[in-house]
Amino acid sequence: MNAYLKAFGQEKKIPIISDEGLSFLLKEIKQHQVKSVLEIGTAIGYSAIMMSDYVDSIITLEKDETMVELANKHILKSNLESKIKVVHTDAILYKPKGLFDLIFIDGPKAQYEKYFNYFSPYLSNKGIIICDNLNFHHLDKNKVSKGTKRLIEKLESFKLFLMNQEAFETKFTDEGDGMSLTRRKDAIFNNHL
Ligand SMILES: C[S@@+](CC[C@H](N)C(=O)[O-])C[C@H]1O[C@@H](n2cnc3c(N)ncnc32)[C@H](O)[C@@H]1O
Repeated sequence: MNAYLKAFGQEKKIPIISDEGLSFLLKEIKQHQVKSVLEIGTAIGYSAIMMSDYVDSIITLEKDETMVELANKHILKSNLESKIKVVHTDAILYKPKGLFDLIFIDGPKAQYEKYFNYFSPYLSNKGIIICDNLNFHHLDKNKVSKGTKRLIEKLESFKLFLMNQEAFETKFTDEGDGMSLTRRKDAIFNNHL
């Protein structure tokens, strides 16, 4: 199923997490003993299905109806409907009811800062926030369309925003398409006691 999903995404040109990005994500899930996940951007359900072996529950938000249908089909086929809940919504309209050990931001790139501000209060004390595609395919912003250039600049300013957070510490990696991992500073401090 997983190889099928990856091939399906690639064939239909639906952006899904890269192999390297997925390895990073799963490594951090194991290291931080993540049990509950909130994902922004489901697409065909690939990353949610890949995470499901390591966690207890995943809520994943998707705006596009066709994607929701495809993701639900794949989740059902994998017998994961009790573990993965797809919510058909614009992410910013979703009101979480609890806290999450991992918030995985993989939706529209221009909205990352908005999502960080909106969802970070729902992070559990030792939880982590991971964002994907921060290098945006390593495109040279002087050789792309105006729209893409704006998007790259938004991602650059999002990285600065992350670096300047008083309550959070972020590390960046070039793995995958460029990813960030953010934790609360006070949780990090307590870890070292
Ligand atoms: C990069 S894809 C997600 C890939 C998926 N996480 C994976 O790796 O398998 C981003 C998804 O975000 C969805 N999306 C775009 N705008 C959204 C919004 N405002 N709220 C929720 N989802 C949105 C898109 O339809 C798209 O399916």
